[in-house]
Amino acid sequence: MSSKLTDTHISQGSLPKHIAIIMDGNGRWAKARGKARMFGHKAGVESVRKTVSAANRLGIQVLTLFAFSSENWRRPQEEVSLLMELFVTVLGREVKRLHKNGVRLQVIGDKSRFSRSLQDKIARAEELTKDNTKLVLNVAANYGGQWDITQSVKKLAHQAARGELDPDSITDGDIAVHLSTAGQPDVDLMIRTSGECRISNFILWQAAYAELYFTDEYWLILMKKACLMPLPGI
Ligand code: IPE
Ligand code: IPE
Ligand code: MG
Repeated sequence: MSSKLTDTHISQGSLPKHIAIIMDGNGRWAKARGKARMFGHKAGVESVRKTVSAANRLGIQVLTLFAFSSENWRRPQEEVSLLMELFVTVLGREVKRLHKNGVRLQVIGDKSRFSRSLQDKIARAEELTKDNTKLVLNVAANYGGQWDITQSVKKLAHQAARGELDPDSITDGDIAVHLSTAGQPDVDLMIRTSGECRISNFILWQAAYAELYFTDEYWLILMKKACLMPLPGI
């Protein structure tokens, strides 16, 4: 998105508050270039950077990016390990820049399955950026929409079992309060790249009323013009 478009054609009032993106097609993008899937994942980081920067500049309140689903563990072990490594590297490399730009980073998903050192890195990044007031960036990692609803309902069930909550009094709001996006506006725009028209267990409850936008372009759409050139650091 060019800054010209940003500055002249988009009025603040018409912007979505919360955009959620299923960043899909990295593997196919790489394959089309005769490269390993990992090449696509690494190149996709540049699209993430540009998207975060555009969302922050536009004044979007919340951006949720689907980085790794609870189902993605079923991928070949090697791809999973390399994706975890990439996650660690990118986190280490980008956090300062996010912080400098006033972005609050939150990793949403079941973090307990990550290595101790990755969990610590995530906790430090969240702590560093927690008071930032510009864009909230949710990185959905080991995330599943069904998991999110289940973990919220479990908390309510425990409260009920302790006699602190009457099951008949439970409202939609009670469930929302325990979701990983508690306190954030619901998703009003969900985007999926690469031509697939599925939600793939992404943010389900929060996207109950979202507009859905599916594009045939791969996640590396932002890199289209540069795709045949060597990419720095890859
Ligand atoms: C999305 O790209 C990124 C992740 C799931 C990590 P894919 O890896 O799903 O790429 P395709 O869909 O196989 O092309
Ligand atoms: C969804 O993409 C998950 C992420 C983008 C992280 P997938 O490519 O894994 O989804 P399916 O399995 O094809 O539905
Ligand atoms: Mg895919």
